[in-house]
Amino acid sequence: MSTEAVLKYYKQTFGGDPEQLAFAPGRIEFIGNHTDYNAGLVMGVAVAEGITVAVGRRKDRFMHFVSDGGEAVALPLDSLSPVSGLASWTNYPAGVTKVLLEAGMEMPVGYNMSITSTLPAGAGMSSSAAFELATAYALSAIYGYETDKAGFARIGKKAENEFVGMPCGILDQGVSAFGQADHIVRIDCSSDLFSLSAMPAGAHFWIFNSNKKHSLVDSAYADRHRECHEALAILQKAYPEVKNLSEVSEAQLRSQESELGDLLFRRALHIVGENDRVRAVESALLANNLDAVGKALSASHESSRVNFENSTKELDFLAVQLQQQAHVYGARLTGGGFGGAVMALTDDKFGAEHAAVIEAAYQAEFGIEASIFHTRAGDGAQTL
Ligand code: GLA
Repeated sequence: MSTEAVLKYYKQTFGGDPEQLAFAPGRIEFIGNHTDYNAGLVMGVAVAEGITVAVGRRKDRFMHFVSDGGEAVALPLDSLSPVSGLASWTNYPAGVTKVLLEAGMEMPVGYNMSITSTLPAGAGMSSSAAFELATAYALSAIYGYETDKAGFARIGKKAENEFVGMPCGILDQGVSAFGQADHIVRIDCSSDLFSLSAMPAGAHFWIFNSNKKHSLVDSAYADRHRECHEALAILQKAYPEVKNLSEVSEAQLRSQESELGDLLFRRALHIVGENDRVRAVESALLANNLDAVGKALSASHESSRVNFENSTKELDFLAVQLQQQAHVYGARLTGGGFGGAVMALTDDKFGAEHAAVIEAAYQAEFGIEASIFHTRAGDGAQTL
């Protein structure tokens, strides 16, 4: 969290002090890849890094945004619609503003907002959800709107789905809202049920950002979303009682393999398998069996590579290198995929010297520098 910087930028740009500060963390997807919008199970961890915003009311009906001391962007409160181009980052707070207004929050005047981030850019740690949640907490405080953590998570998701246009599930916003230091957040997305379990002692997270992304990440994500729903529609012909892919058993899925065809079969197999792997990780955590947790994490990556095809050769390389390290329990791509980062769950002996070996191998293979950082499970969104 960077309160000093956000206050400095606020003062510099708008003069005077803000009325309210809020922080929301980014997240690591621990396990349960693309299960959220299939009403399945997912586990994530809020990280210590995130987005801090400072807000204060204006006298007119405009919203002014300034990010990390850059050029300020002004938008009218009375005609809220998404913008494209360089200022498209303002769609996150503007989208949240629109959702809050629709939910009944009264805004007689607009606001100023300064923003700072401690999240690595492009690592797939969901700076967008962190931005949405920090905005929702800060605006609710100054305009007097009340809801609970699940309510804030839904506001962020709605902004993302309807204003930004990403058909994401509740994972990112849910983890950013419910995160707790040294805890894992579990979400049952069939009923938006959130619960926490303690991180096993001595386990650590290391993130290896491949610094390589598909140019069409958003449309690739939307393609997978569509393919999952196409697979479901075919399965429902044989099993009308099934409401979503996460309710399908592997036996049911296999019985419809030829109807589905190879591609949709593999997409559905990934979702069915991921739900099983979340359950396996839950039992392994209860038994404090970190080797079994790691095995499921690595199996998840393999299913991403083969079935869901949301990995890249850079992510595959990092995952395999990590999986071969003695102090690594398991490693997998984290988040939507098609680029971004690999997450490794390690013991406490894994250190910078081990990370450097992987970094050197990655650089030699692809000529790209990976960015690496070591993080812990941090607290969820909050006003400061
Ligand atoms: C992105 C989305 C999430 C989730 C993951 C994949 O992070 O925003 O809702 O679907 O991808 O599990």
